[in-house]
Amino acid sequence: MRDTEVTYLGHATFMLRSPRGKRILIDPWVQGNPAVPEHLKRIEVLDYVLITHGHYDHIGDAVEIAAAHPSAIFVCNFETSVWLRGQGVTEANLVGMNKGGTVDLGGIAVTMVHADHSCGILDGGKIVYGGDPCGYVIAFENGFTLYHAGDTNVFSDMALIHELYHPEAALIPIGGHYTMGPREAAKACEFLQAPTVVAMHHHTFPVLAGSPEELERLAAGRWRVLGPRPGETL
Ligand code: NI
Ligand code: MN
Repeated sequence: MRDTEVTYLGHATFMLRSPRGKRILIDPWVQGNPAVPEHLKRIEVLDYVLITHGHYDHIGDAVEIAAAHPSAIFVCNFETSVWLRGQGVTEANLVGMNKGGTVDLGGIAVTMVHADHSCGILDGGKIVYGGDPCGYVIAFENGFTLYHAGDTNVFSDMALIHELYHPEAALIPIGGHYTMGPREAAKACEFLQAPTVVAMHHHTFPVLAGSPEELERLAAGRWRVLGPRPGETL
């Protein structure tokens, strides 16, 4: 996509390669993620990690990945950043922020936006407060703008994400049960008006039954729906 490699690792996890070669991992659930192809479980180079929320299927390997990549910068909400610090991630590697904020990652502008979901962190058999879940709008060095919705239901302020940032492509959950399914995702696409939509967070588990084909049927040609297989690069 416009000189940006978008590799779907599986579930909600993506590896991006920016036009200038920066590697960005979104939602670090890799080793424990049954959807990730074996040959992609080993991460060689990593510059930045974006975390949408503290559920294990999004943050599960964050601490191990931080240890293996001591120069990688982790972006997440403030509360989750404090929790990661408590897990041994060094403060210099953490950017704790909140919705509406934008950070510059070496020429890539990352804005934290709303998500309608929950964010408790499973810690020693208990749920601890992890702040608010979020999505990210990523504006790359060449102006290409990508939206990762995180786990979310549809919300009408997705129209604001379109008005403010004009993402050209949107990575959105469609599996249902824990997030929106195809019916809600189609409404989300109407608000977002992104020409290209990439379906995620489906079929990792049987309960995540929403399919890209169903979203494509509901789209009726109004936007392009991609349903990559884990390991596929767009
Ligand atoms: Ni979740
Ligand atoms: Mn999830």
